[in-house]
Amino acid sequence: QVLPLIMAGGSGTRLWPLSRAGYPKQFLVLSGDDSLFQQATARLMGLGAADITVAAPVVLGNAEHRFLALEQLREIKVEPAAVLLEPASRNTAPALTLGALQAQENDSDPVLVVSPADQTMGDAAAFTAALQQAVRVAAGGAIAILGITPNAPETGYGYIRSEASADGARTVAQFVEKPDLATAQRYLAEGGYSWNSGMFVVKASVWLKALGQFRPDILAATQAAWAARSSDGRFVRPGKAEFEQVPSESVDYAVMEHCPGSAFDIRMVPLDAGWNDLGAWDAVWQVAPKDANGNVAVGDALLEDSTNTYVHSSGRLVATVGLSNVVVVETADAVLVADRSRSQDVKKIVNRLGGAS
Ligand code: GDD
Ligand code: MG
Repeated sequence: QVLPLIMAGGSGTRLWPLSRAGYPKQFLVLSGDDSLFQQATARLMGLGAADITVAAPVVLGNAEHRFLALEQLREIKVEPAAVLLEPASRNTAPALTLGALQAQENDSDPVLVVSPADQTMGDAAAFTAALQQAVRVAAGGAIAILGITPNAPETGYGYIRSEASADGARTVAQFVEKPDLATAQRYLAEGGYSWNSGMFVVKASVWLKALGQFRPDILAATQAAWAARSSDGRFVRPGKAEFEQVPSESVDYAVMEHCPGSAFDIRMVPLDAGWNDLGAWDAVWQVAPKDANGNVAVGDALLEDSTNTYVHSSGRLVATVGLSNVVVVETADAVLVADRSRSQDVKKIVNRLGGAS
């Protein structure tokens, strides 16, 4: 039994001005016909095989987006088992723990497939095959993660060093979350490292045991918030005062970095499926279908003598002349014009504005 846990609580500030606090990037349609959240959910629901049954998903997110999430699930005809509403942002380790506690409600111990809600995959079949292998590895008690072949010394990712093992799924020898640039450059030069995709496949009981070993404070505080929960329909709200006491930490720092060499069996399945985490506008341009000049025009846009440029109009006509490698994103109340190679720095604008409002 596999339980998809969809992490939909992020804010996606680097995709401002389209991604806003009230409508963050996972709920936007940025490639294809469905939102990133809908694509992620549909991918996980397609994991079934003769030996793999997929249960109705559990969605974790912000109370502010609960109706948006439900409406988007209705559009793709997926009925969630529960929507867990975090009363505060405490990052992914507490969120995954809430999911594991929910999963054990009816005395079951499913394999959790924990997935971000904001990634795209170019190759659905390759994704399904890799994730099915990860599910089989995790069903045996291991923690499985999916590794991407790196092509640049990105500092925003986790790095995995792995070794071949007898049963095919590689053993993780080292996990380093967000190394500094010099370290990332060294990893690329040395070779043998993969990026962490951000998906985790683990039995609920194994997750709770690992967290209890490495961060018993997070486990205890999250259990207290879970004990104080209230439900209304499919919405489940952990106790607010209790959840606010939970230390904020990601799955990567709280557990993954500590697993190699410990009693926990941590494995990596290579994922070669056109993975992209759409971190910034440059990545949105990368995955989009382009015209002969490398341009992407979304909405009412007219590009004259422009190359490798991304234009997204939400309403008004946007026209460019003689531009190269530029991003233009128009919305009703804000317009972004940026050098495409500086897409990461959009977060500086958001910080100056005081958040993606
Ligand atoms: N429910 C919930 N609650 N979801 C959250 C929260 C939270 O408090 N915080 C983040 N998320 C969701 C985000 O929406 C995203 O889908 C996912 O969890 C990962 O969070 P990020 O904040 O995007 O993590 P990251 O990009 O810094 O790093 C992770 O992803 C990389 C790949 O994209 C790590 O797992 C890295 O190791 C990995 O390489
Ligand atoms: Mg991310």
